[in-house]
Amino acid sequence: MRLSLRFILPLALALAGLAYAVIPLVDTLTLKWFVRDIEIRSNLIGRMVESPLVDLLAAESKTKLLNYFHRIIQDERLFAIGFCDREGRLAYKTLTYPDSIPCDGTSTIKAGETALLRLTHGDVHVSAVGVEGNGRVWGRLMLVHDMSWVQRRSNDTKWYLFYLFAIIGAVISLVTVLVAHLSWRGWVAGVRAMLRGEGLVALIGDQRPGADLHPVAQDLRALIHDLEADKRMRDESQMSWTPATLKRILHDHLAGDEVLIVSNREPYIHNRNGQHIEVQVPASGVVTALEPVMRACSGVWIAHGSGTADRDVVDMRGHVRVPPDNPAYEIRRIWMSSEEEDGYYYGFANEGLWPLCHLAHVRPVFRSSNWQQYKEINERFALTVIEEAKTDNPVVLVQDYHLALVPKIVRDHLPHATIITFWHIPWPNPERYAICPWYREILEGLLGSSILGFHTRFHCSNFINTVDRSLETRIDWDSSMISYQGKLTAVNHYPISIAWPNRERSPLPSESECRTRIRTINGLPYAHRVGVGVERLDYTKGILERFLAVERLLELQPEWIGRFSFLQIAAPSRSKINEYREFKQQVIALAERINRRFGREGYQPILLRIEHHEPQDVITYYRGADFCIVSSLHDGMNLVAKEFVAARDDEQGVLILSQFTGAATELPEALLVNPYNIDQCAAALHLALTMPPTEQRARMRSMRGIVQEFNIYRWAGRMLMDAARMRQRARIIRQTGTGEIRTSMKGHE
Ligand code: G6P
Repeated sequence: MRLSLRFILPLALALAGLAYAVIPLVDTLTLKWFVRDIEIRSNLIGRMVESPLVDLLAAESKTKLLNYFHRIIQDERLFAIGFCDREGRLAYKTLTYPDSIPCDGTSTIKAGETALLRLTHGDVHVSAVGVEGNGRVWGRLMLVHDMSWVQRRSNDTKWYLFYLFAIIGAVISLVTVLVAHLSWRGWVAGVRAMLRGEGLVALIGDQRPGADLHPVAQDLRALIHDLEADKRMRDESQMSWTPATLKRILHDHLAGDEVLIVSNREPYIHNRNGQHIEVQVPASGVVTALEPVMRACSGVWIAHGSGTADRDVVDMRGHVRVPPDNPAYEIRRIWMSSEEEDGYYYGFANEGLWPLCHLAHVRPVFRSSNWQQYKEINERFALTVIEEAKTDNPVVLVQDYHLALVPKIVRDHLPHATIITFWHIPWPNPERYAICPWYREILEGLLGSSILGFHTRFHCSNFINTVDRSLETRIDWDSSMISYQGKLTAVNHYPISIAWPNRERSPLPSESECRTRIRTINGLPYAHRVGVGVERLDYTKGILERFLAVERLLELQPEWIGRFSFLQIAAPSRSKINEYREFKQQVIALAERINRRFGREGYQPILLRIEHHEPQDVITYYRGADFCIVSSLHDGMNLVAKEFVAARDDEQGVLILSQFTGAATELPEALLVNPYNIDQCAAALHLALTMPPTEQRARMRSMRGIVQEFNIYRWAGRMLMDAARMRQRARIIRQTGTGEIRTSMKGHE
């Protein structure tokens, strides 16, 4: 006991000293974080209110302006708002605005500046945000945040830290007492054994030293794991995710490691048009998602060169720098004959795996000749990755169902590479997956990945269940970790998203310009109501179902005839496949039938545009429409839903969203529908067309918040951070030679 006290007393003193030094430091740090948060918040508020504010300023409507200010300060932390005009006069303010914050003089706060002030009733944070619009500078918006909650939080933090140190002290003391106790027992037993003439070695037997402590160590490991996860959550919520954040992650966590992306579809396609070469950005979710990542890390993107002028613009080794107007990274193109493309891309990937994974009632077709081509082309992609790698441990991002065999081949050649594979489409249940004759090879290929990502937890669990039924693996169900032939694969969900903020986007035309433009192009009057749908012409997208819903709407609510049209933008896709050609005919025939039934001179209820549209045009449609419908029968995520929300900075417009998309789990404020339920969809169309602007705003604002926070940079950043952690652990294991991860796996063979 005395022995234990001799340990515990100095330990308690040391911990108290440490707490004394650390708590003020943490206090200062948290204050800094909070102030930074408030600054980000102020900027965000400034940006969001700028355009309505300019309208109100231009209208010189004092009452409306003050009402608007009062609505904004409903927020519990925003304490007051003032508006300083260009002449330095406090032109408008809320009643709460402190007189001691002036608009002019030396102590005034200029646009873009912030200040922490101590007023009689407490501390406040003031942020001056410049207001510009309609081609002129209007003045500054003074946003005053109450800081008393910071003080409260800081006090809470101090208490948490105090408890934390107390708990750490208690845990260490417990372990110390336990060790002392065991050593003492061992020593006494040893002496006794010696007295009995037995050796100490015999006493220890085959027990390893410290074996008694294994349960404690295991608990500690679990605790550290939980703390790590908790810290990660907090870190992530503190971060605002931008291309700069991604760059920082690559720099801080991956120390500038090499990054390679490999996908079937390339981000830029060069096509010949007469004498000219045109660059096309394909209508692909994968491209939308990964382009910003590549821009941030300047790596190499390996993809199929499918454009008619692709070969004309590359160097000897198939490289071309992109984006054409501002090169930031390289594409390495892979060539294949049209026969190979037929077997690998059209055949196995799109007639086999695509319908296998999407529940759209199209029968998957598996031909062994296609499988041969798929294997060969996957090998070609994998060998190119290996050839492009300048180090033995690059981070390789493998994309989608076209390249399921690539991870294993790369892993076999570059065992230290970190391979992150993302499956952009749903994963079916085990019974359905077993339809594929080569199900085993595909699973083995994917299990070459270090991390395998899906959009939703549901698809992760479908995959793990499939593996469990098909291969001899060990699975840790808690951490979704699969061990196969001594290699580990972590299966995680990372919901994909879009770029926000989209810095590359040139200034957008206003919503009213967009309204006018899309109506003029389509010969419609300004007051005409318009709904849009934007997708590839694919049978999984529920295009027929939404046309039927439009027909039903016109049947049930004839007042919309002549006043509403539905505009379908459909990019031609995979048209070599019979199923797609037939689908196109069905779409055209249905649109014509409905137009015959309800159309009249100068009016068509369905406007079908089967052609490629540039991203800028698509945004114009999003911004000018009254609603957007995404009625997929089954969809991994669906980025159209998120793009529509991102395009509506006027906070107007309604999103109608199929419950069978991954996006539905993130955007519950959309009007969620079952696309097979035509009456329900028709009711949703009517609701969208009659929804009051205030309700549209409330729903849209909430969805915009989600898409902004969970943007593409977060998607990529979380995967890269997980990869970095994995690499660090692998380094430690290599250095210490312990197989800790493998031996701690639970589960079954
Ligand atoms: C889906 C797939 C992508 C694919 C895209 C466009 O989103 O998950 O991998 O690129 O469709 O299809 P395409 O066949 O034209 O590349």
